[in-house]
Order: sequence, then structure tokens, then C-alpha cells
Amino acid sequence: MTRYFRDHPARTGDRMLLKMEHYLEHYDELLADWQGRDVSFLEIGVYKGGSLPMWQGFLGPGSRLVFLDIDPACRDLALQGTTVEIGDQADPVFLEEVGVAHGPFDLIIDDGGHKMHQQITSFRHLWPRLADRGLYIVEDVHTSYWPGFGGGLRAPASFIEFAKDLIDRMHSWYTEDDAGFPLHPMAKEIGGIRFYDSLVVIEKRLKEAPVAITAQNGQVSRSRRMLEVRGRRSIF
Ligand SMILES: C[S@@+](CC[C@H](N)C(=O)[O-])C[C@H]1O[C@@H](n2cnc3c(N)ncnc32)[C@H](O)[C@@H]1O
Repeated sequence: MTRYFRDHPARTGDRMLLKMEHYLEHYDELLADWQGRDVSFLEIGVYKGGSLPMWQGFLGPGSRLVFLDIDPACRDLALQGTTVEIGDQADPVFLEEVGVAHGPFDLIIDDGGHKMHQQITSFRHLWPRLADRGLYIVEDVHTSYWPGFGGGLRAPASFIEFAKDLIDRMHSWYTEDDAGFPLHPMAKEIGGIRFYDSLVVIEKRLKEAPVAITAQNGQVSRSRRMLEVRGRRSIF
């Protein structure tokens, strides 16, 4: 497995990088297949600019790298081959402009202000800009437990509760209460959700209603009977 991210801090130059150390191991595991690939990348949060060379060195030379920050001083931190856009990650109009100008993205990292409304608004407006098989990563979700950031344990407006709700949306194919819990459109878009310590990763995978298969002697049969018998009118 690559050690690119874990080895990176020792290779940094004079631009400061600010990350929780344990993210680096998760990124080495999670993104191993992405190394050297030409992709479209967006990170919210520039700060001192230390993550620009990190991502540029990891992704392929033909990648499009876009960063955004609310602080106009970050504009000067753009590197050749990268773009820094200045605006508020909680402003839907700004997010729309970024999405139209630079999307769709294969990889989106939210390492911005870490307040609940910022993380949720960014997700709502940028998720449609994520490409099929792309990853949306939200860093520092421990702020969901901090009242000063709009969080608190089980606080309904926290990002972590929003992310838990995505689990239900992903599984909304399967309920037996079609009226009370109909199919949510995101069930057709979310391939998986991973919760790490302080990181949430949501994978986009466009799909149709799940099928069960039976296979014997190389003969494969597919069926959606499991859903049909539960009267899921919202699916069919
Ligand atoms: C944790 S730092 C980013 C660190 C950087 N990604 C790194 O890896 O070194 C957070 C950044 O988010 C920016 N920020 C805070 N609120 C924001 C908002 N509402 N919209 C966009 N950026 C915001 C701050 O100006 C700050 O530069």
C-alpha cells in the first residue's frame, strides 16, 4: 500500500499543511487506486496552502485541481495548474458558480470552516456536482459534537446526524412502509458511506433498484421480488 500521504508531512516545504495525522493513513488506504490518475478535484479550505502541493503530487499531471476559501488572501496561494476560488462554502450561489465553472468533480474534500450549516450546505449543493464513482469526503466531523460549531451530541442539525440520515436514504429501497418512508432519490446515487474517526466518506454510485441473484451451474437469475412483495410503489 502506498505511504504517499503518511510520508508527505516530512516532505513539505514552507507552506503549512493542517490535517489530523490519522487522516493520512486513511487516505493512503482509501485513495490508493487514485494515485497518478487524472481527475477533477475540489478541496474546500486552503488556509496556508499546504494541501495544494500534496494533492498535486498525488494526482495525475492532467488533473484539474480547484480549491476554494472564504479568505481572499488564499488567492495568492494558487500553484501553477491549480485554481483558487474565493467565496463562502455556505453560499449556494457561489457553490453553483464553482460547480458550473469546474465540475463535475471526481473527488471533493470539505476541509473548510467545519460548522454544521457550512458542511451541510456544501454537501447539498456539491453532491450533484460529484461524478459517478466519485468520493465526497468531509473532514473534522468531530465539530458535530461541539456546540460552538452548531453541533452537540445527537443535535438534530449536526452534520453527523445528517450523515446518519444518509444511511437511511441509501437503504430506502428496502422499507416496508412505502407511504411513510418512500424511496429517496439518493438511494440511486449513494454506493456507500464510511465513517472514520472525524471523517465521513460518501461514495457516489449511480444505480437502479437492487436485484437478488440466484446462481447455479453457471446459470444466473435475477429478481426484484424482494422489493415487489413489499409493495414499494415508490420504486416501481
Ligand atoms: C482547516 S483550514 C484548511 C486547511 C487546508 N485544507 C490544509 O489541508 O492545510 C480551514 C480553511 O477554511 C476556510 N474557511 C472557513 N470558513 C469558510 C467558509 N465559510 N467558506 C470557505 N472557506 C472557509 C478558512 O479561511 C481556512 O483557510
